[in-house]
Amino acid sequence: MSIAIAIDGPAGAGKSTISKAAAKRLGFIYIDTGALYRTVGLAASREGVDPGDAAAVDELLGKIKVGLAFNEKGEQIVLLNGEDVSGLIRTPEASMMASKISAVPAVRAFLLDLQRNMADTDNVIMDGRDIGTVILPNAKVKIFLTAAPEARAKRRYDELIEKGMDVKYEDILEDVKQRDYNDMHRDIAPLKQADDAILADTTEIDLEGSIDLIVKIIEENA
Ligand code: DC
Repeated sequence: MSIAIAIDGPAGAGKSTISKAAAKRLGFIYIDTGALYRTVGLAASREGVDPGDAAAVDELLGKIKVGLAFNEKGEQIVLLNGEDVSGLIRTPEASMMASKISAVPAVRAFLLDLQRNMADTDNVIMDGRDIGTVILPNAKVKIFLTAAPEARAKRRYDELIEKGMDVKYEDILEDVKQRDYNDMHRDIAPLKQADDAILADTTEIDLEGSIDLIVKIIEENA
């Protein structure tokens, strides 16, 4: 039987970096489910589909194929109709579109089996918003990974500046707060800590410390 670890939490808590590093240490496959919603968001932007228009979203879902694969370095890449869009889904605009489109029930249903199937055969660390509550309710270990909005905005700001993007801290903080609100207040699969999830707050902990903490939680509970 394969082992599944669910890591949920708000945007910018370091979920992907920490989960990826923890997976590497533990020999698990890391799956970033946010990339799937970002990819549907990108498809909607390209086609000019309004996330609020249910019929248009449905039509879009009928036309697209979203898949995950791994490159020669073993890193996850995400495919939209066979095109590698891993880089294109990382802009602030794509983040906001992903947040909006992820509130559409048909989009969540569209991505459900894809996520569950990946946990069927392999030992996985899967990160997202509803992994412990909806996608993998029987996950062996559930972690709710969070940090204060200001700390999360600062980390994302540093990341984007490093990539050479021209962004303002205040805009990123506003984005973080807006996405938190969207993610927590949508009707379907809202972001919330599962009853049986372990809370990990990394506001005061650096990256290495956060990875150590998550690995320790997994080792003690898996
Ligand atoms: O983790 P991320 O920032 O890449 O996620 C992008 C958006 O997708 C985020 O606003 C919430 C949504 N999302 C979701 O609703 N459910 C998931 N399992 C993962 C992400």
